[in-house]
Amino acid sequence: MEYDLFNPPPSLPDDTTADAPTQQEPPADTDDAQRIERLRAELHRHNHNYYALNAPEISDSEFDAMMQELIDLETAHPELYDPNSPTQRVGSDLGSGGFPAVMHERPMLSLGNTYNREDVRAFYERVRDGLGGQPFSICCELKFDGLSISLIYEHKRLVRAVTRGDGKQGDDVTANVRTIRTLPLALPAGVAAPEHFEVRGEVLLPWERFETLNRMREAREEQPFANPRNAASGTLKNKDPRVVAERGLDAYLYYVLADRTPSDSHYQNLLAARMWGFQVSEATRLTHSLEEIYAYIDYWDTERRKLPVATDGVVLKVDSLRQQEQLGMTAKNPRWAIAYKFQAERARTRLESVTFQVGRTGAVTPVANMQPVALAGTTVKRASLHNADIIEQLDLYEGDYVFVEKAGEIIPQIVGVDYEARPLLTGRKVEFATTCPECGTPLVRYEGEAAHYCPNTTACPPQLRGRVEHFISRDAMDIDSLGPETVDDYFGRGLIRDAADLYRIRVEDICGEDGTRLKSAQKIVAAIEASKQKPFDRVLYALGIRFVGRVAAQQVATALRTLDNVRHASVEQLQAIDGIGAKIAQSIADFFADKRAADLVDRLVKAGVQTALPEIEALGTQLEGKTVVISGTFSHHSRDEYKELITRHGGKNTGSISKNTSFVLAGDNMGPAKLEKARSLGVTLMSEGEFLRLIGETED
Ligand code: IVH
Repeated sequence: MEYDLFNPPPSLPDDTTADAPTQQEPPADTDDAQRIERLRAELHRHNHNYYALNAPEISDSEFDAMMQELIDLETAHPELYDPNSPTQRVGSDLGSGGFPAVMHERPMLSLGNTYNREDVRAFYERVRDGLGGQPFSICCELKFDGLSISLIYEHKRLVRAVTRGDGKQGDDVTANVRTIRTLPLALPAGVAAPEHFEVRGEVLLPWERFETLNRMREAREEQPFANPRNAASGTLKNKDPRVVAERGLDAYLYYVLADRTPSDSHYQNLLAARMWGFQVSEATRLTHSLEEIYAYIDYWDTERRKLPVATDGVVLKVDSLRQQEQLGMTAKNPRWAIAYKFQAERARTRLESVTFQVGRTGAVTPVANMQPVALAGTTVKRASLHNADIIEQLDLYEGDYVFVEKAGEIIPQIVGVDYEARPLLTGRKVEFATTCPECGTPLVRYEGEAAHYCPNTTACPPQLRGRVEHFISRDAMDIDSLGPETVDDYFGRGLIRDAADLYRIRVEDICGEDGTRLKSAQKIVAAIEASKQKPFDRVLYALGIRFVGRVAAQQVATALRTLDNVRHASVEQLQAIDGIGAKIAQSIADFFADKRAADLVDRLVKAGVQTALPEIEALGTQLEGKTVVISGTFSHHSRDEYKELITRHGGKNTGSISKNTSFVLAGDNMGPAKLEKARSLGVTLMSEGEFLRLIGETED
């Protein structure tokens, strides 16, 4: 049972409301009250960083420690109960990707975490006492470090895959989950599985895939994922199932739910699931004593490094479903299961200095330079310090002894300072740079953002170089005979200052004086020339407008067709395009309003890059003057195909329903918010079949 607004915990007296403590209650200690407020705010922020932004700032154990402190304080002060406290819900990633929200058939809960053997013993004893002397077994499993997923099967076929979301409802990501090759889309004919069942498990990106993906991202100057979990999460929320398929997600299943499962034993049910074709970890073991559990933990603490996927602990579950039911739940977690988290590998070393790096976007990253130290199989001498807030929290001095951990065992980060070992004669206090280390411009910090930026976009060298590198990158103009080093070299020799200069390079500028490197010079000039044929949506992406990724560029180009239209579009017009939010719309408008950016664009146009998508051949006029919103999922064409069909029949496709909408092309699973909006404005819903008949394409 999870408590929430509609279902408060029993400790709340019936005749009081949450914000009006009664006379009988002792007044809350103001220090505690303040601490609770602070912890709630902090935990909300960290939940958001973790689930919605995929950018955690603190380690799991720090998060758990804060959460535990809050739980303890709230237990001591029931009068300060708040239904919206982070203790009352599991963190949510709901709605971050525009997938339809679906209610879970059974709530998806999370497990209590422990970090030491004493807690494992305490769990074991609680179970033993709770079962009043009955014999019991514990199923030991690996704790996979990905995202949990709920899969619904009906008549032996996968019908739905939903993320955890807030535990009550999650995002329907069925199309993306179908790309996971190790998941059975249909069970083998002969097996006896329930008519309707649910399996839960973890979606992961295997290490090897993760590393390849990050190498590609780095080559394209994109921010690499911090760990496989974030990569898996980003992938599962990708809007294009083709991209998802390419990335190669995997899934391990660890929980079978049905009105009638094959067995009362969880372990046996997992074996059955394996027979049905699901990937169930070979590491799953049934144990009968605390010693066996400890041995399992010790074994996997080291052996897990040989596994193809990331794990961060062990999960212990009471095996009998009947006994699980008997033990029940606490406010948030089942009493019959617990997660033991492996200690992240940690090292202690000395901080020598902090330097600041300027990236392509002008974002300034603090980097800690440390005395080299061995950590989880590599020598570490640099670590990320993320941003100014983290530096401030750590209260760092040069010469300090610091603790370094590998987050997700990839990027080392400083997690703490050994304050007691601070030398008497400390070095300088580490302060965030106030000016750009590359060009000296005072740094700025945008509201609501953790990062500092160098605003000198037009003259700061790494930003200039970075923008040209972005311009030539694969998804942009794809000038593959030019690499980042060559671009650096051209900058150094004063040949170029921006992307438009590329088009003025002549063979004689870049081949050796004596004609050496003639071949490669000719190749480069030819590749630059050929890039003029790259379609307009790539040109738009190549400009490197802040927040405008490949997909957004495609969407804007498809909707507005020409550079002139994009240039003169208002923020409102941009925002009306499907998939373009306020932030992107504003950024595009700001870009074209900047005189220097406009000048670059003019020179690119003069050089001859594409400034419009090719005219599309009209198929009909049935939709002339009509504004159509697409919502839901379809069986005859993809959404993109419907967008094109609307345009090619003279209509206009927009993203949100308004009084100007002529009708909604409504597929299956249309979101409740859109449905409500259409109803309230009296906008007609047209089915896929009706639409196809309208444009003269009959449904077969
Ligand atoms: S069982 C009620 N088993 O860890 C029990 N979870 O907070 C539900 N996880 O959200 C979970 N490996 O994403 C279970 N072998 C395993 C697991 C596992 C990883 C994740 C899962 C869950 C979180 C627990």
